[in-house]
Amino acid sequence: MPEDQEQKEGEALYKIVQSCFDEPLSIEKDQKTIEIKVSPILVDNLPRIQRRQCLSLVNKNLGDTLARVFGKHWKKEKTEEMRDPGLVYLLLHHDTEFVGFVSIKAVEDNESHVLYIYELQIVKNYRRLGLGTKLLGILDHIVGLVNSDPAYTKEFGKLEGLSLTVFSSNEGAKKLYFSKGYEIASHSPAIRYLRNRKIEPDYFILVKKNF
Ligand SMILES: CC(C)(COP(=O)(O)OP(=O)(O)OC[C@H]1O[C@@H](n2cnc3c(N)ncnc32)[C@H](O)[C@@H]1OP(=O)(O)O)[C@@H](O)C(=O)NCCC(=O)NCCS
Repeated sequence: MPEDQEQKEGEALYKIVQSCFDEPLSIEKDQKTIEIKVSPILVDNLPRIQRRQCLSLVNKNLGDTLARVFGKHWKKEKTEEMRDPGLVYLLLHHDTEFVGFVSIKAVEDNESHVLYIYELQIVKNYRRLGLGTKLLGILDHIVGLVNSDPAYTKEFGKLEGLSLTVFSSNEGAKKLYFSKGYEIASHSPAIRYLRNRKIEPDYFILVKKNF
């Protein structure tokens, strides 16, 4: 897709996403209900300091795996990827504390027009509280909103579903995605069997199309 088209679709997606986060997300933490504010922002408008905060969280959460799989230059490549035109960021805050982010973009992947989850990253103290589950639910809803927006679909086409990449070693994330209806894509690297040995790829591409 040409870059200016990616940017235009990102702007259209951002407008739809904005309407989903007027209210904060409520979760239970330490037996108290707390509110997580979700701030959507288009990549072009993401201040450098916040992009760095996001990269630093990726590093903290998955830096070791990224370095093992993609080599020592992963950070440079990730920094570039995090500036892809058309990306929409959802920044998560509890009061003023940064607690995670999601980044999404409409892309053509294996000839399918899908909403790709580039990152879903939550700070350690805020995990296992249902935040990932809530965010995935909202992403399902966003696909529905996009597909019922005639102006969007006329210009860019419908979204066929959601897609993402997950490291095969990331058992927690895989459990979450499989429980929410994601499946290994037909074009994903696959498990192979060599004599009696199971060989896992470094990562899987997952898709969710029927919802
Ligand atoms: C993966 C991640 C986004 C999940 O977010 P989360 O808010 O913790 O997920 P939820 O609380 O909604 O979890 C829902 C269910 O998923 C499963 N799950 C999630 N994380 C798990 C883990 N680390 N181990 C085992 N199961 C896990 C559990 O079944 C969980 O339900 P339970 O807590 O009632 O047992 C979060 O752990 C994270 O940011 N990890 C580091 C970055 C990362 O790996 N991102 C994904 C990249 S593809």
